[in-house]
Parts: sequence; C-alpha cells; structure tokens
Amino acid sequence: MEKILIAGPASQILGIRIAEDLGIDSINTEGKKFPDGENYIRINIENETLIAGKEVIIVQSMGPSASADQNARLMELFMMIDSVKRMGAEKIIVVAPYLAYARQDKIFRPGESQFANAVINMLNYFGIDELYSVDIHAPIILNECTCKAINIDSMKLLADYIKARGATDIVVVAPDKGAIERSNAFATHFGEDIPVEVFEKKRDVKTGEIQMSGSSNLNEKDVVIADDIIATGGTMATATKIARESGARKIFAVATHALLLQQAKYRIIKAGADEIIGTDSIDNEVCKVSLAKIIADYLK
Ligand code: R5P
Repeated sequence: MEKILIAGPASQILGIRIAEDLGIDSINTEGKKFPDGENYIRINIENETLIAGKEVIIVQSMGPSASADQNARLMELFMMIDSVKRMGAEKIIVVAPYLAYARQDKIFRPGESQFANAVINMLNYFGIDELYSVDIHAPIILNECTCKAINIDSMKLLADYIKARGATDIVVVAPDKGAIERSNAFATHFGEDIPVEVFEKKRDVKTGEIQMSGSSNLNEKDVVIADDIIATGGTMATATKIARESGARKIFAVATHALLLQQAKYRIIKAGADEIIGTDSIDNEVCKVSLAKIIADYLK
C-alpha cells in the first residue's frame, strides 16, 4: 500500500525527517484558532484523492509550547485523524512521541480523572490502526489501546549522544522510584556494571512541592540524570543540586521530552548541570537527539 506522511503542526521537522528516512512524501498542515478559541486545521492538499486508499502516517507530538498547549495539540491530532478518515485513508498510523496527559495515569486524590486512559480511549474511538509513542510515562496505559500500540525506547540514542560528548566514569541517577526501570535500562547502554543511584523523591500531591534525598558518593563521576519528562525542571534541578553537592565532575540532565516550562532551563543550569539534553519529540533548543530514524525503523 502506498504511504504518505502528514507532519502535524507540533512535529514539522521530525515529520519531514521520518518521511525522508522512509523515502515517502510528506504534507504539512495549516492551523489557526478561531476567535472563540476553537482549533482549525487543514491538511495542505488541493486534491483529496491524494489520501484515499493510502497508508497515512500522522506525526504529532503533544508537548506544550509558546504557540499551542497540549489540549490544542491533542485536538489537532483528532482533527487530522478525522480528516484523513473522511478522505478515505486505508490505514491510519499515529506517531505521538509525547502523548498529552500520559502523566495522569493514576488516581492520587479522590475525585480525580485518570485521563491518560481516556485519551487512549478517544484514539480508539477515532479508529486508528497503529499508535507509536516514545518513552511514554506509564507504558501500561497502552494496554487500553484496541489497535497495535508500541512504546519506542530512545535510551540508546541518548546514551550514544552522551558518550560522544566524552563522558567517562559514568553513574546514572534515577531522580525518583518511577525512573528506576528506565535508568537501569539506560545504564546498560553505557557499558557493563554502570552504577545506578536512585534518589528518593516526594512530591506533595496538593502543592506539587518536591523533596529529594540521594547519594553523597558521586565524587569525580560523570553523572547522567535520566527522566522521561522535564516539565518545570523541579525534579531535574533538585537531583542536579544533590549530584553537584556530592562532588560530581560533569552532570548531564537528560529527558526524552524536555518541555522546559517556566524557568526550567535556568533552574537546572543554576543547580549545576553542564548540559540539558532532549530529543526532537519536543522541538526546542535542547533537542539534540533525533528520533526520526528509530521511528522510521519501526514504520518500515
Ligand atoms: C514524574 O514522575 C516524571 O517522570 C517527571 O519526573 C516529572 O514529570 C518532571 O516534572 P518537573 O520537571 O515539573 O519536576
């Protein structure tokens, strides 16, 4: 079946790179907000038969940015799916490296919504054929998918980047218990027997305030602090400060989805990180590692 790729507004460069790797055409979109706040999106084609009967790959990450929040990105994704369905796409594949609401996978306080599952159910409703996400916060939510759903692991790519930056004598730090599994897997990409230090993080579920404690044994080590998301930078900055006080030589603050909200960049660098490293899941100044090839490999 012939394939075509639609680069959603949040993933225009990543979309083009994936299409190039696959050797297929890509189309972009045009979007706006109506005066009443509703989203509008149009796939940039003059002839709808371009979509009919094809396998359509829609690439749309959903991190918030200055131009749109994650609600808008999610809505745009639904609209693009709706649009290609109407135009007769034979197969619809969604690539959503950062899936909005993935962190709302648990109930912490009575009365909350487990909205991560609801997002998956909405995708089920739209009737897509395959879903690909990257280092999703809680991979278990993909079990809700009625179609094929894959969580792509970007850890090797990030580790290769850090090795190329000359890191030696590495210790991987998991900034909280939720990051242990990911950090253990991450460590294997740096070599055998790379130590993993797990920091203890407590977040006040009402105020969001963080308390953290961790190792004092990082003297002269190159420390890689690995998380799935940097949002406000509170987690990463606190872990960085502990690592710096523990005598770390270099500190790499690494996240697949570096949203860098509010003062995140400032907080992390001020706390003592040498470099912040993210992927092009989020198209910003720290996206130093491209996910294009690994995603294309899954789509081949
Ligand atoms: C939480 O469990 C996540 O893995 C991240 O640690 C969290 O989203 C980071 O948020 P922030 O940067 O606001 O501390």
